[in-house]
Amino acid sequence: MILSIESSCDDSSIAITEIATNRLIYHKKISQELQHSVYGGVVPELAARLHVEALPKILEECKEYFPKLKAIAVTNAPGLSVTLMEGVTMAKALAISLNLPLIAVNHLKGHIYSLFIEKDSILPLTVLLVSGGHTQIIEVNSLSAMKILASTMDDSFGESFDKVAKMMDLGYPGGPVIQELSFNGDSQKFDFPVPLRQSPKIEFSYSGLKNAVRVEIEKQGILSDEMKADICASFQRTAVEHIMQKLKKLFKQHAPKNFAIVGGASANVCLRGEVEKLCGKYATALMLSELKYCSDNAAMIGRVAVEQYKVSDFIKIDELDVQTRVK
Ligand code: KG4
Ligand code: ZN
Repeated sequence: MILSIESSCDDSSIAITEIATNRLIYHKKISQELQHSVYGGVVPELAARLHVEALPKILEECKEYFPKLKAIAVTNAPGLSVTLMEGVTMAKALAISLNLPLIAVNHLKGHIYSLFIEKDSILPLTVLLVSGGHTQIIEVNSLSAMKILASTMDDSFGESFDKVAKMMDLGYPGGPVIQELSFNGDSQKFDFPVPLRQSPKIEFSYSGLKNAVRVEIEKQGILSDEMKADICASFQRTAVEHIMQKLKKLFKQHAPKNFAIVGGASANVCLRGEVEKLCGKYATALMLSELKYCSDNAAMIGRVAVEQYKVSDFIKIDELDVQTRVK
């Protein structure tokens, strides 16, 4: 079995995965969303302190599996350096005390492999990764052969939901609350500009849309609940339309056999619905991770670690460091 740790942002999570079967033996996550909500976003220093509290509590619960462990895996990139360090320090201490090898896992690969938790992997695959930190289209041929086809030039899809929610004091994370309010709003009420509509390139940008929403909010002054719902619905429609315009271009050039949406923001029902339609049109198989595995969790890190374990992709204790950006 492999014990995996995730602490790249505001979720403290530990999982234990059986190597031979991919079976999830143990999985727990303590989210810090409530504590950060009052600030309208993640406060790194607070996040680190909360990991110090939560991670040992979870670890205590899975002590009984320690004798069966073959390796310790941990997310080391990308993420907030101060929070990544909490997981990495715990992983090093465990590796030393239990005399086990260490596996460094890339968080983004974790999101991709959230599709294969307790399952075999299906590759090759084209993936839309939408999270709080990333908006990317990635061609995945194997765990070690991934190619980024498109990225965002500025804000990410999830981040734009968080920022728009903050403008209206809706709390953090913004994605779920904006989606909820949008159900009662008029998505045609505001005609926000779809980013990069005229650009032939397949790339993303969310800062212009975010600013257009800010200008509208300032223009409206005090917002009624009805107006907030209309802004949410119009913003969400435009944010999804931007992704869909670019995906349509991609499918037109070369429709993939397998397509997937992963990352915390892949929970968005509007996006899921539109991508389902597109895949249906091109007879592309669509894979989605289970809702409980869309946001950050250690089960997806453990799933990647199983693959790395099989090819002895270990890292020396003194070489394991955190990286805030993708390599
Ligand atoms: O993957 P994740 O848990 O953390 C990162 O690695 O960033 O993603 C969190 C992001 C947040 O920005 C959150 O607002 C967004 O995912 N999100 C959503 C939805 N649920 C979560 N965005 C849009 N619609 C949703 N339903
Ligand atoms: Zn994530």
